[in-house]
Amino acid sequence: MLKVRGLEVFYGPIRAVRGIDLDVAQGEVVALIGANGAGKTTTVRAIAGLTPFRGEVSYDGRALAPNSAERNLRAGIALVPEGRGILGSMSVEDNLLMGIYCRRDQADALKDIERMYERFPILGQRRTSMASLLSGGEQQMLAIARALLSRPRVLLLDEPSLGLAPKISDFVFSLIADLRKEGMTVLLVEQKARQTLKVADRAYLLETGRVIKSGAAAELAGDSTVSAAFLGGTSAAQPGP
Ligand SMILES: Nc1ncnc2c1ncn2[C@@H]1O[C@H](COP(=O)(O)OP(=O)(O)O)[C@@H](O)[C@H]1O
Ligand SMILES: [Mg+2]
Repeated sequence: MLKVRGLEVFYGPIRAVRGIDLDVAQGEVVALIGANGAGKTTTVRAIAGLTPFRGEVSYDGRALAPNSAERNLRAGIALVPEGRGILGSMSVEDNLLMGIYCRRDQADALKDIERMYERFPILGQRRTSMASLLSGGEQQMLAIARALLSRPRVLLLDEPSLGLAPKISDFVFSLIADLRKEGMTVLLVEQKARQTLKVADRAYLLETGRVIKSGAAAELAGDSTVSAAFLGGTSAAQPGP
């Protein structure tokens, strides 16, 4: 469904992504793991059409142009950005309404918002609250709900567990497992390798803008390169809170 070949992204003279190849098939949860600065965010932003790139990104066999975020969203690629990207000064409901602006079936889309309130009752209870007043976990749910409302065929999640308390982080991982069961295609960027490899089908390990290892998630979980990069046997090896 998604095919990336020889992806390169430059920030001025800095080559942040150095020739990445990756594939995401329909219905797969594919993880992109790697330490801070490895190039994970840059890669998903390029796929979402938010940044210029060199190389090939194709979706259902069609090439995606750089900087074509709006077109990509309409084609079914939705990004939940690192840091969530919700609008804090707007209400929960208005944030969700932003998720449906690209849909032609507005009546059905409004019903989908009601369904999101059932799926995430806390959002239903706080629909008129300003989004900035939600907890970090609630904001992450809001960001994911908003992305789902665009009815994506591929969901790109950039570090959805970042900065969340362990219980809420577990909830986010179980939500990803649910989405997988529902048949959603997901490209999941994470630093929490151990939990990520439990919910993913396949994974790519990034280091300084390159894929240094890839394969079935279950195999990578036992791989020494991955353990050396992250798992290390102690939680201290995992950066972030
Ligand atoms: N806007 C930017 N300008 C310059 N360099 C950047 C910018 N964003 C990221 N980088 C650099 O690109 C590299 C990859 O960053 P990023 O994709 O954010 O990594 P990750 O998401 O894996 O932490 C890092 O070395 C980072 O410092
Ligand atoms: Mg990042």
